[in-house]
Amino acid sequence: MNISTQTYQARRTRLMASLPDNSVVVVRTGELASRNSDCDYEFRAHSSFFYLTGFPEPSAYALIHGEGDLTLITLPKDAEKEQWDGFRFGTEGAMMTFGAYDAAPLEQLDVLALAALDGADHVVYLFNDRLLREQIAAWCDAIATRARLGAVAPTRFMDLSPSIAEMRLRKDAEEIAIMEAAAQISVQAHKHAMRAVRPGMKEYQLEAELNYVFMKSGARQPAYNNIVASGRNACVLHYIKNDDTINDGDLVLIDAGAELGCYAADITRTFPANGKFSEPQAALYQVVLDAYYAGMEALTIGSPYEACHNAAVRVLTHGLVKHGLLNGEVHTLIENKAYRDFYMHNTGHWLGLDVHDCGAYKIAGESRLLEAGMVLTIEPGLYVSADNQSVDAKWRGIGIRIEDDVLIRAEGPYVLTHGLPKERHEIEAFMAQ
Ligand code: GLY
Ligand code: MN
Ligand code: MN
Repeated sequence: MNISTQTYQARRTRLMASLPDNSVVVVRTGELASRNSDCDYEFRAHSSFFYLTGFPEPSAYALIHGEGDLTLITLPKDAEKEQWDGFRFGTEGAMMTFGAYDAAPLEQLDVLALAALDGADHVVYLFNDRLLREQIAAWCDAIATRARLGAVAPTRFMDLSPSIAEMRLRKDAEEIAIMEAAAQISVQAHKHAMRAVRPGMKEYQLEAELNYVFMKSGARQPAYNNIVASGRNACVLHYIKNDDTINDGDLVLIDAGAELGCYAADITRTFPANGKFSEPQAALYQVVLDAYYAGMEALTIGSPYEACHNAAVRVLTHGLVKHGLLNGEVHTLIENKAYRDFYMHNTGHWLGLDVHDCGAYKIAGESRLLEAGMVLTIEPGLYVSADNQSVDAKWRGIGIRIEDDVLIRAEGPYVLTHGLPKERHEIEAFMAQ
């Protein structure tokens, strides 16, 4: 499942149309990262670079000019290097497979960049790419030294980030199809893990079941480090050690999603290791689930992004009061953010090529309004620290999150991660089968 070359070209054309005349966009994908000695991490393209080119290899640069013409600068074909590290597209592949208007090996980067930037009115690049910023400054200096020969160094620089973020925020049909496929692989992985769990297992042994289904289903890797957190570990929001023993009576929180075609899924389910929720676990689980449903109602076109969070916070706070974990008036506890002891994250984030995808959450200080084609997570939770002496001992160490991926549409929210049990009775019945 791949995005077509025509779509990448259309994105570049649209990007250039949104920028001032005579702009040149420079974007790079980054380098292989060393893990240790001669071992590198597997390369994963930079998301915005990939969004504009689809090119998967490391070390590449893209120069985009005119109405969206792409010059791709890549690692060269090299029989000896390819013998060790594998196939490279090279310049011919860049043009034939990726629709580049021009291509060159990396050793010609400076020459091509100097030619592209000479006389450009605006250079557009990601301001947070420090290395590229230095390279662009050096290219501009070099152009300026040739002013007497007629060279004109650019003097205006624009951050690519807001323009590309606005484009990436709204997903087209091809992207949505890939995201739903990633979501459904992830649903299968969660289902498999729910059935595979046994008290006494290590968390990473349960994690292996997730990775097994991801890979077997065509997703080469997870979109982010799998979180498999049993018992009190579930209160650590980004717990990735996954090396504890899962005990009878624990809840297990799994936050894991597959990456497919560089698109992320992001799912959390929390279920009992022994297949049966205890009474306090069930009580808090129901509060989180009610918050999920309340939040979901706000995921409609024209709703402010933060309405989902506000709705979830109201239900969570109400539940905390009902069960005696907080004391006081719900509205005061919300105003004072008292719920933050138990709910310290937001109820969702944009999802796409990055698990925490780009896109502004506020426009001119106001929460932005949801539009068709936006994809975001909904992920209410409650986390009672094992050390919290202010609550009855029966609540301590319970961590719960329920997370799905949602496409905003005219017909109402569409859950891309559909088909995964989340009601308590559904989970218990599913695990018992
Ligand atoms: N998996 C990270 C998150 O839910 O935001
Ligand atoms: Mn998330
Ligand atoms: Mn998550």
